[in-house]
Parts: sequence; C-alpha cells; structure tokens
Amino acid sequence: MAIISPSVLACDFANIQSEVEMINNSNADWFHIDIMDGVFVPNISFGFPVMKAIAKHATKPLDVHLMIVNPDNYIEDCKKAGAEWVTVHYEACPHLHRTIQLIKSHGMKAGVALNPHTPVSVLEEIITDLDLVLIMSVNPGFGGQSFIEGAIPKVAKLKQLITEKGASTLIEIDGGVNDKTGKQLLEAGADALVAGSYVFKSENPTATIDILKAL
Ligand code: DX5
Ligand code: ZN
Repeated sequence: MAIISPSVLACDFANIQSEVEMINNSNADWFHIDIMDGVFVPNISFGFPVMKAIAKHATKPLDVHLMIVNPDNYIEDCKKAGAEWVTVHYEACPHLHRTIQLIKSHGMKAGVALNPHTPVSVLEEIITDLDLVLIMSVNPGFGGQSFIEGAIPKVAKLKQLITEKGASTLIEIDGGVNDKTGKQLLEAGADALVAGSYVFKSENPTATIDILKAL
C-alpha cells in the first residue's frame, strides 16, 4: 500500500486548522510541505511560521520539500518547525553529501528531489545514504500542472538503481498525481505519492485519499 502525502500547498490557507484535521482523520500518511523561495523556483509559497502552525495540529509526519537555494542554512529551522523528512533539490546542492549528512545529524530523514530533466544516474554514488528520492513529475514551483509522462520510466530506473545498490531508499513522486498516474507510478515501483490539487480540489478529499490509498 502506497504512502500518501497530501500537499498542503493546495489547501485552503484561511482554514488551515480544519484542513490539517481532515488529513489527521484520513488515511493519509504524511503532510507534504512545499517551501519555495522565489529563487530556485519562480514562486514563493510559505515559510517556517506556517510550517510550525501546521506542525502544532498535525498528528502525522511532516514531509518537507525544500525548493530553495542554500538549503543548508535552513535545516535547523526545519527541525525546529517540526519536520521529520527533509528533501532538498539535487540542482540546488553543490555539496549534496554534506547537506544530506547535515539533515541526518539533526535526527531527520534525508531525501533528494530530481527535476524532470535530471537523470537518476546522478545519484549512483549517494543512493545508499538517502532515505528518500523525490522524482518531480512537473517542473517545481506550482500546484495543478499536468503530469510529465517521462516520470514513469524514471521511477523504474530509480527502482533498479536502489535494488542494484541494496539501498532501502523510498521513491516518492510529486506533481500531477491522480488515480490514473498514481497507479502507473506504483506499478513502476513508487512507494509514496504526493497529491495536491487532486486531493484538495476534490469534492470529498477524505474519499479521494482513500482512492489513492487503494491503488
Ligand atoms: C510543486 C510542488 C507540489 C505541488 C503538487 O512544485 O512540489 O508538491 O503541490 O501539486 P499537484 O498535485 O497539484 O500537482
Ligand atoms: Zn512538493
């Protein structure tokens, strides 16, 4: 059964407490928290005060996706704001190994996200250090974009790399996930699905989470 991580980027921020409680009371597993800086990606989302407000009510782990430059400067803030999983972008980390060790030194699980154009092969030398790899199936920065099909074979390649290296890394996918793309991704070897608009813009988000959970 897949890990389901609803992206709160798509929630109603004016009613954040009830949105958090909806996820608490659903069959979702994590909270996906998208932090954007307007530099690494062409959009700004929200920062640590909002993350802390979510953490205060959340009864499930926060899965934090940092779409920012210089993430090393904010790893301690992530810990303080309640993160359990922290994912940084490969494209934003010239010293990726150091960044991963820094995340782990704060007692958090470490992930690396790959933009659509970045091949899985760049992770060959670091995969055994990673708790999670996040394959972007859209260009990061916005919710509600359409799914890039190339993510499916990419998941299969990543699965092969993880098996070859004997790693226990989880594969998570982010962007344009719905019942159809979600099923294909799970068949290719994905472990965790992020879903923003598919969950929050649906008539019954709790039931939509159940649909993803049952794929
Ligand atoms: C995009 C974010 C996603 C976004 C997904 O940059 O990383 O987590 O919220 O939204 P949907 O599921 O609507 O594509
Ligand atoms: Zn995300």
